[in-house]
Amino acid sequence: LGFALRVVAITDLRAGSLVRTDGDGIDLAPLLAVAPGELDFSAMDGGDAEPRNEWVIREVPADIVAEATFTNPMDGEPALSHVRWAIEAGKHVCTTNKGPVALHCRSLRELARRHGVCFEFEGTVMSGTPVLRTARRMFGGLAVTGFEGVLNGTSNYVLGRLESGLSFADAVAEAQALGYAEADPTADIEGYDVQLKVMILANEVLGAGLTRADVPCTGISALTAEDVRRAAAEGLRWKLVGSAARRPDGTVEARVAPVALPDGHPLAGVTGPVNTVAFHTDLLGTVTVGGPGAGRVETAYALLSDVIGIHEQSGRAVAGAKSLQEAHRG
Ligand code: HSE
Repeated sequence: LGFALRVVAITDLRAGSLVRTDGDGIDLAPLLAVAPGELDFSAMDGGDAEPRNEWVIREVPADIVAEATFTNPMDGEPALSHVRWAIEAGKHVCTTNKGPVALHCRSLRELARRHGVCFEFEGTVMSGTPVLRTARRMFGGLAVTGFEGVLNGTSNYVLGRLESGLSFADAVAEAQALGYAEADPTADIEGYDVQLKVMILANEVLGAGLTRADVPCTGISALTAEDVRRAAAEGLRWKLVGSAARRPDGTVEARVAPVALPDGHPLAGVTGPVNTVAFHTDLLGTVTVGGPGAGRVETAYALLSDVIGIHEQSGRAVAGAKSLQEAHRG
C-alpha cells in the first residue's frame, strides 16, 4: 500500500468492547487501558453507549474513522452522528452506511471541507465493487446522461429463486441466511435500499441533488412466483431496476420499480447477489460496471479502498501544501 496501517481502536454500538491494538494485530479482549498519554479511559466510565461512542470517536488518536455501524437507513442514525463527530474532530471518515450519504451528502461534504478532511463512502453502493470511484475517474471527460442498475442483491437473489420454484418467504429466508439481506429485509424487498443507492449515484454522477420524495419507489413484494416463471418462459426476466436520466431541461428523473427485461438487455443476465449498473454516456455509449453488491468481506474491502483513497488524497494535499510553501519561499 505504501503506508503502514494500524488499527488503533474498535468500538461498537454497545461501546462496551473498546479494543486497542499493540500494532502487531488486534487484541480482541476488551481493553480499558492504553499506553500513558494516549487516552484517558476513566473519562468514559458510565453512561449510555452513544455518549461513550462520541467520546471514543472524538478522542481516539486516529487519522481515519471507518464507520460501519448497524444503522437505520431511513434516517441514517446513528451513523450520521458518528460521521459528524469524526469530521468535527478533524478526522478523515469513511462509511458503508447509505442513510447519511443519501440524505446528507452535501452538508457532510461541506463540513468535511471546512475541517480539511476527506469523506468517502464507496461501500454505500455495490459494496466493494468500485462503482463510485470508477464513475468519478472515468466520467471526468464524459457526460453521463443516465443509468439503470440492479442494485440490491437480496431482491435479485429472491427473483432468481422464485424462477427456480421457491416460495417468496423461503427465498427471503435463504437471502438472510446467506448474509445478503438487511436484518429487517423490508428495505431490500420494498425497494427502499435501491432508492437510497439511486439517490447516491444520481447525486454523484449526475449532480442531481435528489431527495427520497424525488424517487418514486415500488419493490418486488407484489410479484408472485407465477409472474416470474411465466415471464421467464416468454424470454423476459423480472429485475428490480433503479434508474435515473437527465431530462432535456437538465433536471433528473429517477425511479425504482420492477421491470420485465428482454434477454439481451445488459441487466437481464445479472443473477444472484451480483449488482450491475449500466451508465449511458455521450462518448462511450453504455458502460457497464458489475460485481458483488453485498457481503461482509466485500463491504470491508470497500472501507479498505476508502482508507487507501483517503491516504492518496491526504498525501496529495500534503504534497500540494509543501509545493505551495516551496513556491512562496522560491
Ligand atoms: N441488503 C443489501 C443488498 C446489502 O441485498 O444488496 C447492501 O446494501
